[in-house]
Amino acid sequence: MSERSQEQTGRTAAHDSAFMRACRREPVPHTPVWFMRQAGRSLPEYRKVREGIPMLDSCMRPDLVTEITLQPVRRHGVDAAIFFSDIVVPLKAIGIDLDIKPGVGPVVADPIRTRADLARLRDLEPGDVSYVTEAVGMLTAELGTTPLIGFAGAPFTLASYLIEGGPSRTYERTKAMIYGDPQLWADLVDRLAAITSAFLRVQIEAGVSAVQLFDSWAGALAPADYRRYVMPASARVFDAVADYGVPRIHFGVGTGELLGLMGEAGADVVGVDWRVPLDEAVRRVGPGKALQGNLDPAVLFAPRDAVEAKTDEVLAAARGLEGHVFNLGHGVMPTTDPDALTRLVAYVHEQTAR
Ligand code: CP3
Repeated sequence: MSERSQEQTGRTAAHDSAFMRACRREPVPHTPVWFMRQAGRSLPEYRKVREGIPMLDSCMRPDLVTEITLQPVRRHGVDAAIFFSDIVVPLKAIGIDLDIKPGVGPVVADPIRTRADLARLRDLEPGDVSYVTEAVGMLTAELGTTPLIGFAGAPFTLASYLIEGGPSRTYERTKAMIYGDPQLWADLVDRLAAITSAFLRVQIEAGVSAVQLFDSWAGALAPADYRRYVMPASARVFDAVADYGVPRIHFGVGTGELLGLMGEAGADVVGVDWRVPLDEAVRRVGPGKALQGNLDPAVLFAPRDAVEAKTDEVLAAARGLEGHVFNLGHGVMPTTDPDALTRLVAYVHEQTAR
């Protein structure tokens, strides 16, 4: 089979799945469920295959990427797979010296803080991430009708790691650049929008069914600043992949005040954390978009009855939505009991079966 027809096959097989239908706001047989960070340390089979292999090395091995991506699909029966990788993979691929430190997150050896530093952010070519193309091909062949979600980090969230040099709670250097040198900031997020767009296009060309843009830390900004300094770059990313017609999901944490703008940036599906109930979120986002979310991941540490009661609340708030993809309000925490996740998938399917 030619590469082109293989890519078509993966997307065609998954086209009528509950997840794809919910993203398109079509009727569904049950509310589809997947979890951010469903592949990862909560699974013993993940910890086993990752033993002794650094995170970024594992992202560059198609055999491992395929196995790890499939693990939560097999175990939990989720309605979608998310490609195992990381938001910093494309930056590593263009030669930025960075690492993912366990328990910390991405750490950048030489932060980007001046105009001269921008030259280090060259464009991403598909050949820089050929292991991604290979792994997506292997996965769509294995997944059959289960859709595969590709993803990338949004310009603001990537810029925050590059400027701060690692995770931050306050984003002081990032904000110092935004407010102190808005032209440098605009040029930086423009470079990152090009890299992110290229990374998403590689995944779509290889056959993913949908893409999610993670602007995890955008909630640090006030709406007016988000609109002025961040939204245009994210909108360029959504525009760059619009022609493929695959659903585009836009997610951030603590973004209750930004939900309308995140929809406006071009998403088909807006991800919502647990701080805003979905019936309020839909008022903020407006018509014509599906919502994804939004059980607090910490709820999974409570007894089963409490998890079901909180899940009932999410499903009740979702009742009037045009399209709902059930998810957590942020990623699965590493110490979560995997059986609680498996039970949650079954519970949502049962409660929403039509
Ligand atoms: O299952 C999935 O969701 C797919 C894989 C995935 C990973 N990272 C794997 C990973 C996805 C979608 C991401 C995105 C990502 N990476 C985001 C956006 C999502 C979010 O959480 O808001 C961000 C901010 C990052 C940056 C990053 N990478 C962090 C903060 C960490 C955690 C550091 C730690 O050890 O606590 C990572 C590492 C990482 N990425 C792990 C995984 C499974 C843990 C690595 C390990 O197993 O040691």
